[in-house]
Amino acid sequence: MTPDTLLVGDCREVLKQFPDGCFDACITDPPYGIGAYKGDSKKVALIFPEVLPEIHRVLRPGGALAFFGRWPTFYRWAIAAADCGFVQRDEVMRDLRHPFKPSPEALSKTHDSLFLGYLAPRSDSTFNAENVRQAYQNPAAEARSSGRERRRSKALRARGWAAEGPRRAPHPNGAWPSDVWRSCRTWQGKEHPAEKWPADIARLVKLLTNEGDLVLDPFCGAGTIPLACANLGRRFTAMDIDPHWVEVSENRLREEAGKRTFALPLEAQP
Ligand SMILES: C[S@@+](CC[C@H](N)C(=O)[O-])C[C@H]1O[C@@H](n2cnc3c(N)ncnc32)[C@H](O)[C@@H]1O
Repeated sequence: MTPDTLLVGDCREVLKQFPDGCFDACITDPPYGIGAYKGDSKKVALIFPEVLPEIHRVLRPGGALAFFGRWPTFYRWAIAAADCGFVQRDEVMRDLRHPFKPSPEALSKTHDSLFLGYLAPRSDSTFNAENVRQAYQNPAAEARSSGRERRRSKALRARGWAAEGPRRAPHPNGAWPSDVWRSCRTWQGKEHPAEKWPADIARLVKLLTNEGDLVLDPFCGAGTIPLACANLGRRFTAMDIDPHWVEVSENRLREEAGKRTFALPLEAQP
């Protein structure tokens, strides 16, 4: 069984060394490229689309792909993913509550996006929406009566027998998950400038993977995705081009999940 692995390296090179179909899912957060490449619309979308064919190769049939992104790169990436053979299931809008750097020439940007997709066949893809039901926004409104109940209570009301018909009870585990997530962009203790809100990552891992699955994160930053995997009983292979972030990830995994990681050269791995 592949051990949990953290690697330093350029994922464009590192991924080439993994066999076909060895990962159950890729959940990742590539550099959005917006600040670094400001003004150069060609460079903006470069890195992630370059990596997508390799991600496609190393995922098993039915394997899930989730990536974070922001306008203007996100939509180019979604098209690149479709061109590669991924099927998009959803686009999640994350309401980050704190705007990115404001500009007098545009609206204040307070959301980013999340691509949820998979490789065919759909029947082999994991989608545990039941495990990530969310709190009802308005329990009274959610508890709608069924058509049959409505017809029955209408008939009763017409006869003056009941003012209100029976209502269907809300689901005990909450509402079916929606594609708008109330999230967060800045919080105390955040280490990486692009670090993701841990609750969102845990939700994604539960939604797209099962216990024991092997998850790939080619752009791990401060390790939020491998950390969620470790805490939820999933295995991971994660990497970052910057040794500093691999060290931060390693420390977080040890301190917050009691997890020892392996960073063997790939050719030395069992
Ligand atoms: C958006 S951040 C990831 C943040 C992470 N999700 C977290 O919560 O901390 C993207 C990361 O990709 C890394 N990166 C950029 N180019 C890379 C490449 N070619 N290969 C591997 N990592 C790369 C950057 O160093 C950066 O830490």
